[in-house]
Amino acid sequence: MVADMDSSLNPYSPGSGRRPMELAGRQAEIDAFDLLVAITRHGRHERSLVLHGLRGVGKTVLLNEFRRQAERADFVVVSLEGREAEGGPEAVRAKLGRGLLQAGRKVNRPGIGGALKRGLGSIASFSAQLGVTGIDIGVDMTRGRADSGSIEVDLEEMVEDLSGALAEKRSALVFLIDEMQDLDRGLLAALLAVQHQAGQRDWPFYVVGAGLPDLPAVLSEARSYAERLFTYRSIGALPPDAAESALVVPASKYGATYTPEARDALLAASGGYPYFIQEYGKAAWDTAPEKTITIEDARIAIELGRAQLEQGFFLTRWERATRAEKDFLRLMAQDGDAGSSTRDLAERAGRKQSSMTMTRAALISKGVIYPPALGRVAFTVPGMADYISRLNAL
Ligand SMILES: Nc1ncnc2c1ncn2[C@@H]1O[C@H](COP(=O)(O)OP(=O)(O)O)[C@@H](O)[C@H]1O
Ligand SMILES: [Mg+2]
Repeated sequence: MVADMDSSLNPYSPGSGRRPMELAGRQAEIDAFDLLVAITRHGRHERSLVLHGLRGVGKTVLLNEFRRQAERADFVVVSLEGREAEGGPEAVRAKLGRGLLQAGRKVNRPGIGGALKRGLGSIASFSAQLGVTGIDIGVDMTRGRADSGSIEVDLEEMVEDLSGALAEKRSALVFLIDEMQDLDRGLLAALLAVQHQAGQRDWPFYVVGAGLPDLPAVLSEARSYAERLFTYRSIGALPPDAAESALVVPASKYGATYTPEARDALLAASGGYPYFIQEYGKAAWDTAPEKTITIEDARIAIELGRAQLEQGFFLTRWERATRAEKDFLRLMAQDGDAGSSTRDLAERAGRKQSSMTMTRAALISKGVIYPPALGRVAFTVPGMADYISRLNAL
């Protein structure tokens, strides 16, 4: 017999990219990707998708969902992150090469046609150019294709060579790129250029991206036509009914319910942010002795959930900052989550704006802040301003 609220059955999933039991409020994105798949299967090209938003809103979870949708349609899928923990741009490019080889190997079944074989040969050439060797996918490199050493030329040739054969099978090549704002600019520009070609020449090739709120601006900077290349979807906090489902449905699948007061208190504390809903839901489940979660349980859960968020979500980012960066973040915290003008920050610090650009750049590169517009900075994590203010009040 399991206890009523067995914590091993906890149905919540706080953590980066972890699939929630109830994927609430994202049907429009899932439908948009389904449409892209359907149109591709009819032999036509559709504009690809880019998701942008703060951390913890569910972009990675959606990309993973897209991956499942694409694989169900027998598409060739390669997942990539804009930056690797270890190693620079070369590591990301090598990962792309390995991902392509892996995907190509799966496609290389007995009896595939000559066109597809040649396409796979171009994958082998392209991957070798990205520095990956030693993974045999059972085809010879296609000489003189995708092996010029220019990433843009080679990517284009590889995609072109693969496209005919994939189109025949009503399949497609899909790159799912998370944290896309971190991609090295050379690879980014090449991807955009080839996506552009694909749209004009009906190649079944899609770059699907996710990243911080400034990702659309980053893409436009890399290639001016990027604006027209994608359907951009802003991903944010869940609207009230979806937030409620995200909290209530997982518990109800295991026969537990929230009293209306408990539910409302937890939802208010979460601000509708998916990550926070998972954290507070998990704490509520682990706190409640009975299958009805009460306001008393909820109050404790909010304390415990917040402590958990501070340890996991906020502290890790805070600790990554140097002393000068922490000073900068403290100045920013005074403006709340809305963000700050860099001129105001300099004024507040009694310093020249130019003396703060290094700190600003370092914090952007650490992924703690981003530039929502020229001359402005904001936190990438919802609630960070509050967290820093509380730290300072101690
Ligand atoms: N639509 C959703 N409904 C409920 N929970 C979600 C939803 N999307 C994401 N989550 C949860 O939110 C957290 C953050 O998701 P993630 O995809 O890593 O966010 P991001 O990539 O935007 O930082 C995870 O714990 C995940 O389970
Ligand atoms: Mg993510």
